Amino acid sequence: MSEKKKEVVMSGIRPTGYLHLGNYFGAIRNYIKMQDEFECFFMVADLHSLTTHPDTKELKQNVHRVLAENIACGLNPNKAALYCQSHVHETAELYLYLNMLAYKGELEKTATFKDKVRQHPENVNAGLLTYPVLMATDILLHRAKYVPVGKDQEQHLEMTRNFAQRFNHRYGEVFPEPIAFNFGDNLLKVPSLDGGGKMSKSENQMATLYLADEDDTIRKKIMKAKTDSGPTENNAAKPDYIENIFLLMKLVSAEDVIKKYEDDFNNCLIRYGDMKKQLAEDMVQFIAPIRQKALDIMANENYLKEVMETGAAKAKESAAGTIEIVRQAMGLKYY
Ligand code: TYM
Repeated sequence: MSEKKKEVVMSGIRPTGYLHLGNYFGAIRNYIKMQDEFECFFMVADLHSLTTHPDTKELKQNVHRVLAENIACGLNPNKAALYCQSHVHETAELYLYLNMLAYKGELEKTATFKDKVRQHPENVNAGLLTYPVLMATDILLHRAKYVPVGKDQEQHLEMTRNFAQRFNHRYGEVFPEPIAFNFGDNLLKVPSLDGGGKMSKSENQMATLYLADEDDTIRKKIMKAKTDSGPTENNAAKPDYIENIFLLMKLVSAEDVIKKYEDDFNNCLIRYGDMKKQLAEDMVQFIAPIRQKALDIMANENYLKEVMETGAAKAKESAAGTIEIVRQAMGLKYY
């Protein structure tokens, strides 16, 4: 009897800077949990990065770092296909077809597009407008069902489902409708340390914890996190910036430690200085081994080349299968 086919998982990360805790807990942690059970495709979205970062001087270094940091976090390139988006040329073809099914109005309304227009009014290019179409392409190219991502990608997934539906309606059932995925339940947004916004590769750097941060930098950033003089009544609601510190603690600290500070908060005994010191040490314990491993992997360019080649070969095989079905469905077969 043939083995049951594994369900397909796909996700990507842009090489636009250093990876941070948000990338880890929103995305990479799920990749690692999924790599045994599912057929996984994880890629470095270098083409997406060109929509906002046309200068490619640091691209090679950034691509290498994203690969190395993923592997250092526990991603196994022998289990999952780990590849570079631009190595899979089938991407360009499906992107072109899907662009015919995407409408200017819906693309202009996308939250990430509006943000980018606000941040860089001098570079509102067509690639930026069709960013969600390229992302849908990455996912649909492997006919993936689950897409492990953080909360900020939810709208892109909704658009991907719309494009898939539209294609299926017009040309016949080809694509499953993929869903954004997080182990546990809700999609995650890892907050920045300053109490406003989220951790990010390129903005908010002093309030973001990077997987490459040195121990003392981690300590310094955490000790600077906003707090206040503490609650004045038992079991009070936590202000956002305090909730954020608890959230970070829940990501890296032991259960009894978290419980102690929850109890201290509820009984008005909390000392935020102590709490931040504890969080800083737990964070150092968490980040330091990843940082060190990533540095070792980055120093081995031959290994990274091998990873990219093997990953691209797996991804291309899957993509070519989809493209064949797509062309057939669209009636682009003339002999
Ligand atoms: P990117 O590179 O901005 O982020 C990579 C992943 O990290 C998640 N993430 C967060 N999660 C929680 N809290 C945060 N503060 C936080 N910051 C980032 C993101 O949700 C994402 O999962 N468009 C995508 C890249 C992409 C892609 C794809 C993703 C291209 N093609 C296909 C999935 C499938 C992006 O810009 O992610």
